[in-house]
Amino acid sequence: MSHADDATRNAAVFNRRDFVRLGAAGLGVALGGASLAAHAADPRETAPAAAWPLVNQPLKRVRVGFVGAGGMGTNHIRNLLRIPGVELCAVCDIVESKVKNVQELARKAGQKKPKGYSRGPLDFKRMCEKEDLDLVYTATPWEWHVPVCVAAMENGKHACTEVPAAVTLEECWQLVETAEKQQKHCLMMENCNYNRFELLTLNLVRKGLLGDVVYGAGGYCHDLRDVKFSKDGEGLWRRAHAMKRNGNLYPTHGLGPVAQCMDVNRGNRFQYLVSLSSPSRGLQEFQGTLPADDPRRQEKYVLGDVNVSLIYTASGQTITVVHDTNLPRPYSRISMVQGTKGIVEGYPDRVYIEGKSAKPHTYDNAEEWYPEHDHPLWKRHNEAAKGAGHGGMDYIEDFRLIECLLKGEPMDMDVYDAAALSAVCELSERSVAGKSAMVEFPDFTRGNWKTNKPLGIIGA
Ligand SMILES: NC(=O)c1ccc[n+]([C@@H]2O[C@H](COP(=O)([O-])OP(=O)(O)OC[C@H]3O[C@@H](n4cnc5c(N)ncnc54)[C@H](O)[C@@H]3O)[C@@H](O)[C@H]2O)c1
Repeated sequence: MSHADDATRNAAVFNRRDFVRLGAAGLGVALGGASLAAHAADPRETAPAAAWPLVNQPLKRVRVGFVGAGGMGTNHIRNLLRIPGVELCAVCDIVESKVKNVQELARKAGQKKPKGYSRGPLDFKRMCEKEDLDLVYTATPWEWHVPVCVAAMENGKHACTEVPAAVTLEECWQLVETAEKQQKHCLMMENCNYNRFELLTLNLVRKGLLGDVVYGAGGYCHDLRDVKFSKDGEGLWRRAHAMKRNGNLYPTHGLGPVAQCMDVNRGNRFQYLVSLSSPSRGLQEFQGTLPADDPRRQEKYVLGDVNVSLIYTASGQTITVVHDTNLPRPYSRISMVQGTKGIVEGYPDRVYIEGKSAKPHTYDNAEEWYPEHDHPLWKRHNEAAKGAGHGGMDYIEDFRLIECLLKGEPMDMDVYDAAALSAVCELSERSVAGKSAMVEFPDFTRGNWKTNKPLGIIGA
């Protein structure tokens, strides 16, 4: 991201000097003016809405080309190789040994050898052009997600990507516009939406047990210092973002499940956010543990260790989203949804519903709620998911992707979800850069959110 880009973005953001000049009485006018100007400036938001949801013909089998066979990619490939109806036809990675590893996994699973592509960082384009595929799945570093998805769709394939789907707002629009033009599915694989506790929460919300949902909180609170300084895997690319960007770089694990409970893009939408970042200290302290001549000691980081964003939805709910990956701490996604009748909160997983929980003002252990309220997907796949990545949620996520394609049904998550959730990356950076200025979410659905029906996976 260049300084010129930042300047353009910040032009639409409320300027603190304006606040001082106008005083509190002028605040509403100033904020309204800033946000209206930001919207009027982008003609894409006033373009006609697309016909949606996108429904494609049922497929007899799903021919997959996979791009990025690293840690997470291999995890998905292992799942895909055991989901009925999947043919892994091609695999692409800049590292040839990773391609060979996947070819070996396919052989062991009794599948034909997938065609290998490893002629450099743009070889996925050749794969998309040459191969007969139904779906291109990418688990590359963040900056490659959009180029891969766009190449896939422009060559007539559905696309799905690991999280976040996009780094910038411009990229979010690219995904939306290409999916609409090519009439292809393009989804972000947010596995946490399929975790058992998050789906229990969704089930409780759908059953009305939480009452009206008014607040949610989610985050990605994970000590990634070892990962970021590893000489392999994410250490090769993730730390670089901390040198250029300050905001919430990875918002979707915490926010995705909350958005689902609040029917975002299906009767509701994210309207605006404000964001604050703490000082940047964690990675700098970690540098002190590196050998004296390690060149990484010279790196400069700008990413605030703990970024907190507040989102306001069109229905008037509030959401806190946290990004916290540079400090020593146990893992948490917070996973909280609160309604007029009760609250569900993770780490540890707890449920309190007034009049139904065992004791007033006291959480039940979530285990007590599974026998009656476990989500149908978990009732159906509990056994198959055992041993799969991230407690099994990755298997259920991949299963639903393939099931929807085979049945020709709309996806659980679509390109508008990918865009709205990923938009938090740049919006939080803009807000932090503008002293926590309010920034509005683009309406990627162009009004369709008002009539889109809430997600129906409850009966799956
Ligand atoms: N959903 C989750 O729980 C979860 C967990 C971990 C990672 N992720 C996401 O998965 C993605 C990959 O993360 P990872 O941990 O597997 O990282 P990784 O570095 O282990 O894997 C990335 C792979 O992409 C390959 N690659 C890089 N550029 C490429 C290009 N231009 N073309 C083809 N291959 C390319 C690399 O060689 C590597 O094998 C990231 O988006 C990350 O955010 C998600």
